Amino acid sequence: MLKIKLSSLKPGARLGKDIYSYDGNLLLPKGAIITSEHLEAFARRQFDEVFIMETGTKISSEKNFEEVYSQSLDIAKSFMMEARLGKPLEFDEINDTVNLLVEQVFDQHGLFRQMRLMKNKDDYLFTHSVNVSLLCILIGRWLKCDDETIKNLGVAGLLHDIGKVFVENDILNKPDKLTAEEFEEIKKHTLLGYNLINQYPWVNAEVANAVLMHHERADGSGYPVGLKGYKIGFYASAVAVADVYDALTSSRVYSGKVSPYTAAEILWQESFGKLDPRISKVFYDKITDFYVGNEVILSNGMKGIVVYVDPSQPTRPIILAGDEFYNLAEERSITIQEIID
Ligand SMILES: [Fe+2]
Ligand SMILES: [Fe+2]
Repeated sequence: MLKIKLSSLKPGARLGKDIYSYDGNLLLPKGAIITSEHLEAFARRQFDEVFIMETGTKISSEKNFEEVYSQSLDIAKSFMMEARLGKPLEFDEINDTVNLLVEQVFDQHGLFRQMRLMKNKDDYLFTHSVNVSLLCILIGRWLKCDDETIKNLGVAGLLHDIGKVFVENDILNKPDKLTAEEFEEIKKHTLLGYNLINQYPWVNAEVANAVLMHHERADGSGYPVGLKGYKIGFYASAVAVADVYDALTSSRVYSGKVSPYTAAEILWQESFGKLDPRISKVFYDKITDFYVGNEVILSNGMKGIVVYVDPSQPTRPIILAGDEFYNLAEERSITIQEIID
């Protein structure tokens, strides 16, 4: 892939990286052939440079994201292990990691691909923390939050489960259903995490609140307090949505994973009574955009490609399987079971 100045770009070149608007909407996908109209639009938007594919070269726009992800994962691992040992949290480590992630959230196709590739590849607690941080940043962008809020959301996501380092590993990774006592132990991670981070003056008070409150649900079924209503604050509500999405799409030790489409549907259903619908709505509306062009396996066993996402029913796209189109908005019994890379 080549990065070239707009002034030297000619119609006919093939775009090497997706182009997004600042608020996260896809303007032009990777692979598009650039026309003179595109060149005019780039100039209007004051783009200096774009990535184009080198002819005959296999491109990999995810490479960079892969490196950033694994670097963030290493740092998350190290500060969580250190917290377990009673060592202090370093502001720089957390700040630098979130800055790195914030920069990467513009490459949203790369982000979802990498999150899928990382599933089950490492300790769940660490990948989950990085994923929830990325998803919180994405929510911030989708809701057009200011830069500081987006960064705080990233910190809240990264630290939301830090209290789990104080929960016994046997309970955390137990493959079977937890006993009532074991669940009580897990629940403590909210308060343990809050107590840990609240001692640092550089941790924003709302971020600390999100660590404490991300398992509260509007119907009062959550913990640690069992608060009723949508009272837990914006950061905690965003972490709650990101947390549920990542848990649903991961093969956790004690439950099977679901596809991003099913996860978005579940989030939307749970948003009335449990999660904040203002956040679930934007998540539901936007998340499935990123799977157009992906190969999927349907619940009837067929393989196909997502060709169109209807904004009014984003989790029920049109799939081309063989020579046939399946409109999942009409064929309600068919679901997307898996996304293939
Ligand atoms: Fe949690
Ligand atoms: Fe979590």
